[in-house]
Amino acid sequence: MEEMKNIQWFPGHMAKTRRMIKANLPLVDAVAEILDARTPLSSRNPEMDMLTAGKPRIILLNKCDTADEKTTAKWVEYFKKCGFSALPVDCKNGSGIKNFLPMLKNSTLKAVVDKLEAKGMSGRPLRIMVVGIPNVGKSSFINRMAKAKSAKVEDRPGVTLEKQWVKIDSTAELLDMPGVLWPKFDDQKTAEKLAFTGAIRDGVLDIETLSMRLLTKLAADYPDALKARYKIEIADGDTGLTLLEKIARKRGMLILGGEVNLERAAITVIDEFRAGKLGRISLESP
Ligand code: G4P
Repeated sequence: MEEMKNIQWFPGHMAKTRRMIKANLPLVDAVAEILDARTPLSSRNPEMDMLTAGKPRIILLNKCDTADEKTTAKWVEYFKKCGFSALPVDCKNGSGIKNFLPMLKNSTLKAVVDKLEAKGMSGRPLRIMVVGIPNVGKSSFINRMAKAKSAKVEDRPGVTLEKQWVKIDSTAELLDMPGVLWPKFDDQKTAEKLAFTGAIRDGVLDIETLSMRLLTKLAADYPDALKARYKIEIADGDTGLTLLEKIARKRGMLILGGEVNLERAAITVIDEFRAGKLGRISLESP
């Protein structure tokens, strides 16, 4: 946990990103906040509401291909109740992406679009700031929307040189904000969920502990997925350790003397979970 705190509280970097968001906010019509559909709360920067207050917001529940569809639908409702638009997307395969601009124009920014039309300015592109914690799929989203590198808009005056405008088409441009705002992972549960999905680096928690905690969670929330993948039975009183041992035995992961190779099993469980081999699993519900 010490290491995580160090990352979060790296003060210069965080302060610069905060300043950049604030300084550039007046240039955009809306903010697109990218979250991981499996962990929509843990993958949020808690300051984002405060930093982008007053701007219409569209929440992109990315990596929806890896999350439980029913839970994702509940998240969409949840964020709508918070006053935001919300859209599940899969930036790896492209699903949901085509709904982004229509949702912006017809819902998130409807009032802005109507106002521009009334002023005879309907030709001016909508401008959207894209924010998200590292690894949530920000680059994948921007690349999908931009389609080609040549879409970059050059020479736009702005507050700093590092940020980048990316043209989607004649009606919309994205502002790719460099710099990062980490999620709030000074609490253990948040840190764990981010480590399960690989959003924070391996090595922050040791792999065996991480996999045992994941197995405990899966045994409680998705026991069928666990049984189906590893062909194990789950008994009352099973712990993360006993489950990991069962998986190691079932997979023949043994070391000399017939002991189970827990480390190998742990790596397998984490890799397979991240690769979606256990099915579509959400780690948080609204
Ligand atoms: P970032 O800019 O926010 O840091 O994230 P980036 O786009 O680099 O994406 C981080 C990882 O998440 C990448 O995987 C990317 O392929 C994956 N990813 C992005 N969107 C989706 C999605 O909708 N579904 C799934 N399943 N994965 C997604 P990687 O392992 O780092 O790279 P690679 O395997 O794509 O080479």
